[in-house]
Parts: sequence; structure tokens; C-alpha cells
Amino acid sequence: MEGNIPPTTTGNLQDYEVASKEFAWASVDKEFDWSQGSVYNVAYEAIDRHALNWRKNKIALYSIGASGELEKYTFGELSELSSKFADGLIKLGAKGGDRIFVYLDRTSELYMAMLGIVKMGGIAGPLFSALGPEAVKDRALDSGASIIITSENLYERLLPILDDLADLRKIIIVDGKEELARNCVAFEDIMESGDPNFQTVNMAPTDPYIIQYTSGSTGKPKGVLIGHRAMTQQYITARWVLDLREEDTYWCTADPGWITGTSYGIFGPWYLGTSVVSFEGRFDARTWYEILVNYGITVWYTAPTALRMLMRAGDDLVKEFNFDKLRHICSVGEPLNAEVIYWAMRVMNKRIHDTWWQTETGAHLICNYPCMTIRPGSMGKPIPGVIAGIVDEEGNEVPPGTEGHLALRPGWPSMMLGIYRNTPRFKEYFEIPGWYISGDLAYQDDDGYFWFLGRSDDVIVTAGGRLGPFEVESALIEHSAVAEAGVIGKPDELRGEIVKAFVTLRPGFKPSEELKKDITNFVKTRLAYYAYPREIEFVESLPKTRSGKIMRRVLKAMELGQPLGDLSTLED
Ligand code: PRX
Repeated sequence: MEGNIPPTTTGNLQDYEVASKEFAWASVDKEFDWSQGSVYNVAYEAIDRHALNWRKNKIALYSIGASGELEKYTFGELSELSSKFADGLIKLGAKGGDRIFVYLDRTSELYMAMLGIVKMGGIAGPLFSALGPEAVKDRALDSGASIIITSENLYERLLPILDDLADLRKIIIVDGKEELARNCVAFEDIMESGDPNFQTVNMAPTDPYIIQYTSGSTGKPKGVLIGHRAMTQQYITARWVLDLREEDTYWCTADPGWITGTSYGIFGPWYLGTSVVSFEGRFDARTWYEILVNYGITVWYTAPTALRMLMRAGDDLVKEFNFDKLRHICSVGEPLNAEVIYWAMRVMNKRIHDTWWQTETGAHLICNYPCMTIRPGSMGKPIPGVIAGIVDEEGNEVPPGTEGHLALRPGWPSMMLGIYRNTPRFKEYFEIPGWYISGDLAYQDDDGYFWFLGRSDDVIVTAGGRLGPFEVESALIEHSAVAEAGVIGKPDELRGEIVKAFVTLRPGFKPSEELKKDITNFVKTRLAYYAYPREIEFVESLPKTRSGKIMRRVLKAMELGQPLGDLSTLED
């Protein structure tokens, strides 16, 4: 099968062209209770307000444990539980504006904690449970987090770094041992101390509710701050792009450690009162199909790597299942190749809608919609209300078919408020006057569809997650055998890109398969389970600039057998 996929007529957004001409952000205001005088807070709009109407007894969350056990929570219950947690936090000494980290597997407590923090005016910092101690330390030091909510298992991982975290005052432990260390409090005790009638705090649109760490090409991860005002865009895109409705059962497979897992795994769908499914376990093709079918998922948001893994699991498996209930599929995080779209049409008769956005953008920006023809391989068109362009270094828009920076006119509601304690980095996004520069390279075709080409920097986009080479290099050189390391993203059919490390060894160490394994494990357990180099190549030296900076661009070109480009700054 080839060619474009025709539109359908059943989506929430009926006419893209008309909406693009007529839509005004202010028209979304009336969807929120704050426009009728309630408090202004994303958590209030996501949960509390539904507890005051008939949705009180509607299921908000189906939380499926790693081995399939199920917990259900109604909007009424989640509202009370998160209020208790919010009040418990205040009684523990937390204050509005505090950065409070949630370092938990995808269990129901994660949702209670995230909502509770936001309700009391805190800034929630979700940390993917695959992160190792070094990664948590970088983030906690940068943000000055005062409280971390974690589990007994993950607490063990924090032990080696606790002494370094001067700002950390309390650790809240889910299912903790009876005997807790100093500074530790049981999650249950926090809940017990909290008032279920706690009133969610009124915030300003430009107050941040979340600090979401993401990687750049230089330095350690940056704390991107998203404001309560993001609700406007998250709400309307949950309608137009995810095509969510009252009766839907929706599954977002992204972890809340990534922005997809918060903007569209927590807040977006709940503004609409949709029932959300969350699965704690890891990827497994049969299990995933079973969740889709057994829970009657109607809308599913996932990532290309997962879709490619399902494709690899074979047609026999997918054909065992009946996807009649599944109405709408979206994808995000990396390029969605045309083959995957054709596969889903063939085996499920479903369209997959690619969506493009970033941590910094807070919500969807360039997407495919049910009412629009899909051009497989294209990211689609800007959501109504947003202006995107392909620009050169001076900010001039380039003609269709020409590669350039994927750029946006600033000012969409969910745009980041800033980078925590790093204004220079924030300003870099706006260096080309009049535009926000995304860091992606792309082109636009004659009909206005956007096509992704790659990153303009060294950021690695692997299995749906963004990874900074500097982070991996820093972890590598802490290994006793490693003298220097240069890290690149190497194209990979399944994962989009994999991490490849070029390593020079310290005197006395010899290259061996064993040493590779040891280095791999070192990165995996210290930095993150997904961040380790799947390929390590031992080299005599690394290409560097005269000022000593490793030239990853040259490493990448060498790896891909491409021209090396301008080498005038190379050391020798
Ligand atoms: O390079 C683009 C890639 O992921 C980057 C953003 O990563 P992150 O901040 O982790 O957010 C991911 C989920 C919102 C982008 O700069 N990316 C994201 N979506 C797509 C994509 N690349 C190609 N196609 C996409 N649909």
C-alpha cells in the first residue's frame, strides 16, 4: 500500500482550514470553571471541578500494575486523595513555588502526588523511574528540590547521593519500611494528616506548575518551566488532536517523566473528563494488545519505537485481536515512518496521526487531524492558532521544499515560561528575531505539510526520549578505564537513533568485550537505564577543536561515511 490516507468525517475538528482562519485562543476560556469565578489552577480544572458534578462517580483513572492488578479511582476519589496529599505537604512545611520531585513508577500514588503538589501551588518535577542516581542528583541540585516523593525500591538508588543534596529537606516514601531514616516520612502518614476538603490554591497564568527536565546538546539537562496558562492549549489539542470525548477510554503510553506523560497523560485528557488508563509495566507486544482490547481503549497515544516493535512482533499476533473499539491513534516523539502508517492501515484499518511538539512547547504544535489527509511521513500542519515556518539563519522564510530551521511565532499559550535558573539558555531559543527556534530541521511541501529532517544540534532522539550527549559523556568519563568520550546518535531502524560512544582508554586499559559490558552497565545504573551506549567503539583519539571541544559532528559524519564538512577548527 502506498499513497496518502484519506480524511474521515467523524473527528471533533470538522474543518481544519476554517478553524485556522477563525480560531481565537480566548474562545477556549469558557470551557474552564475559572471563567465562572473558580480558582485558576490546572489541577482544579483537571480533577476538582468534575468532583462537583455528575462525573464525581465516573472513573478518572484505571491504574494497571506491572503484573496486571487493577486499581480504579473516580474523579471524586482522586480529588479528595490529591487534596489530602496537598494539605499533608503543607503540614510538612512545603510552600507555594517549592520544587517537589516525584520519583515513582507509574502507580496511582504518582498521580495523587503530582496533582497534590500542583494543588498547593508547588512546582512538580516528575522524574522517570528509569533514571539512576547521577541523573536524579543533577536535576535535584539544579532545581533545589526540597521534597522527593519516592518508593522504597527507588529510595535505595538515592542513598549514594543524599549527602550531596543540600536543599532536600524531606523524602516521602510510598509503602515505606516501618523504621524510616531521618528526614523520611511515610506517604500514608502524609495522607492521614491531610484534609480531604483542602481548597486548591489560586494561581496566576504565568505561575509554573511543572518543571520538566530535558536535554540539550551542551551541559546537563535543563529545567523547563510550564505555566498554568498551558491548560488552554492542552485542552483544545486534547479535543482536536487526540480527538477525545466524554465516553472515551484513553491510554497514553508515555511516562510522566516525559512531557507527553504529563501534558497528555494527566492534564489534557482530564480537563475533558475522559477516563485515563495507566500501565506500570514495560513494553511487551501481547500485553499491550491485551490492554488495548481488554480495557476497550478508544484513543491511544504512543510512540514510533513502540509501534515499530509491535510491527516486528508480527501479523499473526496482531490478528489475534479485535480493535473495533479503538477509534483514534496518535504518535509522538520521533519521526513516524510511512511503513508504520501503512502497517496500521493494513492490519488494523486505523490511521496513525503523527504529532510534533517538544518539552519546551508544553503542548501539540504540528499535527495530523482526522479531518485532514495524512501524507505518510509528514508531521502534518500547525494547530489552528499557531504559526509555524521554515526559516534560514536570518529568520527569512524559505521556499517550499527547502531545508531550514523549524520555527514558531512565539506566544502560544503553553510555551515554556523559562528555563529554571538559566536565562541565557532560554534566550537562545529566540536568537533569530521574531521566531522561536525549535532545534529541528524540516521542510514544508507545496501544500503546507511539514516534514522532519533531523536535529540541528547533537541532541539524540532515541526510543521517544531526548538525550543529551554531554550527559552520557560525563557519565562515561567517570568510569575508571575511560579517558575521553564522544557520543552521537546513530540511526537505527527500530529505535530511531541509538547512543553510540567513541571512547579513548586510560593508560593500562585494553579494549575488550568485557570492558564494553562493564562500561555499559556503569552508565545504565548511574545515569539511566535507557541512556547507555548500545555501541561502544574504542579509538586512539577523538576529533577536537583547537580549544579542546570534541567534534561530535565529525564523529557522526565518519560513522555514516558522509563528507566531513568544514574542518578548519579541527585540532590536527
Ligand atoms: O526532534 C524532535 C523530536 O523530539 C524532540 C522533542 O523531544 P522532547 O522535548 O523530549 O518531546 C518529545 C515529546 C513531545 C523534537 O525536537 N520529535 C518530537 N515529535 C516528533 C519528533 N521528531 C519527528 N516527528 C515527531 N512527530
